Amino acid sequence: MYYSEEIVEEVRMRNDIVDVVSGYVKLQKKGSSYWGLCPFHNEKSPSFSVSDTRQMYHCFGCGAGGNVFTFLMKYENYSFPEAVRALAERAGVALPEPEYSEEARRRENRRARLLEVCKEAATYFYFMLRSPQGTTGLQYLKKRELTDETMKKFGLGYAGKNGAQLVEYLRKKGFEDQLIKEAGLANFSERHGLLSQFWNRVMFPIQDINHRVIGFGGRVMGEGEPKYLNSPETPIFDKRRNLYGLNFARRAGSGNLILCEGYMDVIAMHQAGFTQAVASLGTAFTSEQASLLRRYTDNVLLAYDSDGAGVKAALRGIGILREAGLTARVIDMRPYKDPDEFMKNLGKEAFGERIAKAENSFFFEIRIMEAGYDMEDPESKTRFHREIARKLCEFKEEVERENYLQAVAEKYHIGTEQLRRLVLSAAVATGGAEPARRPRTTASRKSSPEEGAKKSQRLLITWITDEPSLYEKIKGYITPEDFTEELYRKVAEKLFLDLEKGELRPAGIISMFEEENDQREAAALFNTSLPKLETKQEKEKAFHDIVFSVKKNSYEYYTARLGADMTALNQVIAGKKALEELAKTHISLD
Ligand code: GTP
Ligand code: MN
Repeated sequence: MYYSEEIVEEVRMRNDIVDVVSGYVKLQKKGSSYWGLCPFHNEKSPSFSVSDTRQMYHCFGCGAGGNVFTFLMKYENYSFPEAVRALAERAGVALPEPEYSEEARRRENRRARLLEVCKEAATYFYFMLRSPQGTTGLQYLKKRELTDETMKKFGLGYAGKNGAQLVEYLRKKGFEDQLIKEAGLANFSERHGLLSQFWNRVMFPIQDINHRVIGFGGRVMGEGEPKYLNSPETPIFDKRRNLYGLNFARRAGSGNLILCEGYMDVIAMHQAGFTQAVASLGTAFTSEQASLLRRYTDNVLLAYDSDGAGVKAALRGIGILREAGLTARVIDMRPYKDPDEFMKNLGKEAFGERIAKAENSFFFEIRIMEAGYDMEDPESKTRFHREIARKLCEFKEEVERENYLQAVAEKYHIGTEQLRRLVLSAAVATGGAEPARRPRTTASRKSSPEEGAKKSQRLLITWITDEPSLYEKIKGYITPEDFTEELYRKVAEKLFLDLEKGELRPAGIISMFEEENDQREAAALFNTSLPKLETKQEKEKAFHDIVFSVKKNSYEYYTARLGADMTALNQVIAGKKALEELAKTHISLD
C-alpha cells in the first residue's frame, strides 16, 4: 500500500462521512441515519443512507456502498491514494512524502499509470500543434475561429503524420508498449510494430471531472472518414460515464447545464462565455451521463443540431433526462445547424436570448409530433389529440398533469373538458396515468449454492457488527477460515482481530482494499438486511441457522479440497466437531 494503515485510518477518522457526503448530496436525518437521493443512480425518492455511527454509506436502490474513501473514489473518480490525499488535505493531516522509487511505481495501480500515459500523450500532441510539424493543424483550428486561449484551455493538440513518433516519445518517458496499447494510444501491426492510433488529426483530449485526460477525440482536417476518431474504451475511459467539458461546466455556476452534440460545439460555447456546455463522447447520451448531470443541476438545456438527426437525438435525450428526474428545455438553433455555427453567425447575445426562450421539453415533443398530423383533416386531428392525451398520462403527479393539460389545451385550442376525457380513456387503455412499467431488464440473479453460502457469511458479519457481544458466543465455532470467499475472509480476519481488542470499526476495514469494487463488496458485508423477526425465539433460531450454515458450507468446502490443500484436513476435522456441537447447542442472544 502507498500509505500506511495507521495514517489511512487517521485520515478516515478525521473526516466525518456525514460532513463529507453533505458537501455533495443533500442529506436529511431520519432515525439513526441520514438520507438523500443517491448520486450513483437515478431515483426520485431517497434510498441512499449515510450512517453516522458506522461511518459508511449504503444505497438500498443500487447497492453502492463503502466508507468515506469509497465515496470520493466513486464521486470524484479518484484512485485510493488520491482519495486519501484529498481527505488528508481536507482535515489538515500531514501525509508522509510518497516514495517515488522504482519499487513504489511498480506497486502503483494500473489506473494511475494509464492516466499518466494519457497525460504524457496529451502533452506531446499539445507541443506538436505548436511546432513546425503542426502548422496545418494550427491553421485548421484558427480557420474555425478558435483563439489561442481557447485552444489552451481545452489542451487541443495535433497528431503528426509519423505514427511511430508518439510511441517513441512515450517509450523514452518510460512507458511500456503494453501500457501504451492498453491506453488506446497505439495499435500493434505485424509489419510496423506499435503505431499511433491517431494520425494527421487535430486532437481533443477528453478529461474527467478532475481535469485528468482519459482519452482522445481526433478530427480530420477537412473532409474525410471517419470525421472523428475516438479512443477505444479503456479501464479509465468509460464513454457512458463521462461528458466532454464537464470538468469546467461543473464550476460554471450558471444554474443550468447545456448539453450539446459535439466537441466543437462545446468549445465554441465556452469561447463565447457559456462555460456550462457539455457533450457526450461520440456516442448517444446515456442514463449514466444523466445521473452525472444531476449531481450538478436539475435544469438541462439541449443544444442539439437542428436537423432531423439532431431532433431525433433530442427526443431520445429528453426521455433519458426525464427518467433521471431532470427538467429539460430545448434551445432552438434555427436557421443554423448547431451551436458552433449559430455562435459564428449571430453571436452570444442572440444565443443568450435563445436560452431564455428555450422550449419546455413537453411542448417540444408535442410540436414535433404535430408535424406528423394533418390539422385540416378532422380524423388526423383527433388522432393528434389522442396522442397528446397519451403523453399527458406520463405525468404521474396529478397537479403537474393538470397544469400541462391546461397549457396544452390552450395552445392547441382544445377544450379542456374534452382533453380531460381523452386523458381518462388513454389512462384506462394504458393501465393508469403513468408510463407503463418497463419490464426489469436484469433477470433476477439465479441463486446458486455459492450465492447462498456467501449470503449466510454476509448475514453473519452484519449481525455481529450490529451486536458485537455475539462475537464471544460464536468464536468457539467460527474462524475467519470459514469465510470461503477470499475478500470475506480478509474482512472477517480483521473484524475478529479488532473484536478481540474490544474495538469495532467496520469503516476502517473497508480501507484495507484499494479497488473501488472490492470496497463496495466489503461494505456490502456490513449492510445485509437482517431478517425482521418479532420474538426472541425466532431471532435465536435465525441466528443459529446462519452460524450453522456458515460452518456447514465451510466443512463441505474443505472436504472437497482434501488432498489438494494441506490446511483442509484440519479444517474438516475441526468443522465436523463444531457442527456436531452446534447441532446440540443453544446460542442465546441475551
Ligand atoms: P465539427 O464538424 O468539427 O463541427 O464537429 P461537431 O463537433 O459539430 O460534430 P458533429 O455534430 O458532426 O458530431 C457530433 C459528435 O459526434 C462529435 O463531436 C463526435 O463526438 C461524434 N462524431 C462525429 N463524427 C464521428 C465519426 O465519424 N466517428 C465517431 N466515432 N464519432 C463521430
Ligand atoms: Mn459542428
